[in-house]
Amino acid sequence: MGNDDLRAGQAAIVFGASGGIGRALVEAIAASGHFAAVHGGGRKPPQGLPDIVRPFAFDLSDEESIKAAIGAVEQPIGLAIVATGLLHDADRGLSPEKSWRAIDGATMARLFEINTIGPALIAKHVIPRLPRQGRAVFAALSARVGSIGDNRLGGWHSYRASKAALNMLLVNFAIELGRTHPDVIIAGLHPGTVDTGLSEPFQRGVIPEKLFTPEKSADCLLSVLDCLKPAQSGRVFAWDGQPVPW
Ligand SMILES: NC(=O)c1ccc[n+]([C@@H]2O[C@H](COP(=O)([O-])OP(=O)(O)OC[C@H]3O[C@@H](n4cnc5c(N)ncnc54)[C@H](OP(=O)(O)O)[C@@H]3O)[C@@H](O)[C@H]2O)c1
Repeated sequence: MGNDDLRAGQAAIVFGASGGIGRALVEAIAASGHFAAVHGGGRKPPQGLPDIVRPFAFDLSDEESIKAAIGAVEQPIGLAIVATGLLHDADRGLSPEKSWRAIDGATMARLFEINTIGPALIAKHVIPRLPRQGRAVFAALSARVGSIGDNRLGGWHSYRASKAALNMLLVNFAIELGRTHPDVIIAGLHPGTVDTGLSEPFQRGVIPEKLFTPEKSADCLLSVLDCLKPAQSGRVFAWDGQPVPW
């Protein structure tokens, strides 16, 4: 039985399907025809997605909304991707810190709420829906700047720290699931620098060849996920398949 047959009775779910990369991911997953059902969520149900995609609403700050969205999935979940994230928010006066002088507790708490705690709550409710046998993937969009070993520029304190903490949780989930779900793969993903609202204020100086469209990034990330083996569970992988240093 091929990979496609194994996935046929399963669902895929993308959190953050209203965002730049999340929308491209859910569109590519829908176009693949690999899953019996495809769910895509945002704070409001995303509009304009392919017909097969079932839109839903959730908020990372509201665990009940996460639980309800996952409860509405009928099939076992073969692929769950958390494509949400926060770097700046003009409405809340929130922008990445250039220095320790700019650290603000409320800003840092908000970044952790969205980039670390929200994905952990999604994992809490997705994991019971993963098949105990057979391949399944739980992936979360992280960022290369969350690597402690690769940090040469500093700055962006809350964003970097929230992604480093997310990466730690992914390792923890991989260790725990390795005992009960031997074929499940937990992965963090670095999508490259991608032309979305999140990166828009910081694109100056990025050479055009290094600024990916969301579609290119999504295609690369799905190819990476397709090739991962359970022995690689818990690591963060970049768009080109290379592991990101711890
Ligand atoms: N773009 C890049 O260059 C880049 C580089 C490295 C890593 N990443 C990572 O890639 C991921 C996706 O980023 P993106 O560039 O696609 O950003 P984006 O276009 O700004 O999308 C962000 C997504 O997060 C969702 N979100 C934010 N707060 C939420 C909340 N409270 N509850 C539910 N959803 C919430 C947004 O939903 P709404 O539409 O409802 O606001 C949206 O779907 C992030 O984790 C980011 O850190 C991006």
